[in-house]
Amino acid sequence: MNLEEVEVLFDREQVMARVKELGQQITQDYQGKNLLVVGILKGAFIFMADLVREIDLPLEIDFMDVSSYGVSTVSSGEVRIIKDLDYSIREKDVLIIEDIVDTGLTLKYIKDILTKRHPRSIRICCLLDKPSRRKADIAPEYVGFVIPDKFIVGYGLDYAEQYRNYPAVCVLKPSVYEK
Ligand code: IMP
Ligand code: MG
Repeated sequence: MNLEEVEVLFDREQVMARVKELGQQITQDYQGKNLLVVGILKGAFIFMADLVREIDLPLEIDFMDVSSYGVSTVSSGEVRIIKDLDYSIREKDVLIIEDIVDTGLTLKYIKDILTKRHPRSIRICCLLDKPSRRKADIAPEYVGFVIPDKFIVGYGLDYAEQYRNYPAVCVLKPSVYEK
């Protein structure tokens, strides 16, 4: 990790402790259900890999990749599906895994699309929640950490596709993207 560019917000140990708690909670809540864990690419891939190993239940996994329309860094809420799920979610208890909920516009769109496909239930689990920036009416049922409005990288999250491999959840110093 280049500590001139990032500041550690939660180290790997803190993240793993919280992921373990989330896994235990989900294990309790989904007893006897038909759990399908849906990861939103690419940001959720590391969080999801750790989380599913803390869920002590039979489950299936699938992935979806979406992209916002336009080049603006501000989320428009108009989303295009790049990669859809491989299988039907009918009668499944779907748990969407996302890295971070910011405006909530992306997740609102995904949740609305998936709800139309008749799952038995649908919930959201995110590693990070920035509620101060919320624009869509979306409230994740499972949240790793509530954070202030800072730009985050590491543990799957990127800036211009970099930093996803950093093991800690880090704040990207504004000097990196303001230059
Ligand atoms: P939303 O539609 O504004 O909620 O956008 C959510 C998506 O924007 C996330 O899945 C991330 O890909 C990206 N995003 C939002 N905030 C951050 C951040 O602080 N760091 C990295 N990516 C972010
Ligand atoms: Mg994302």
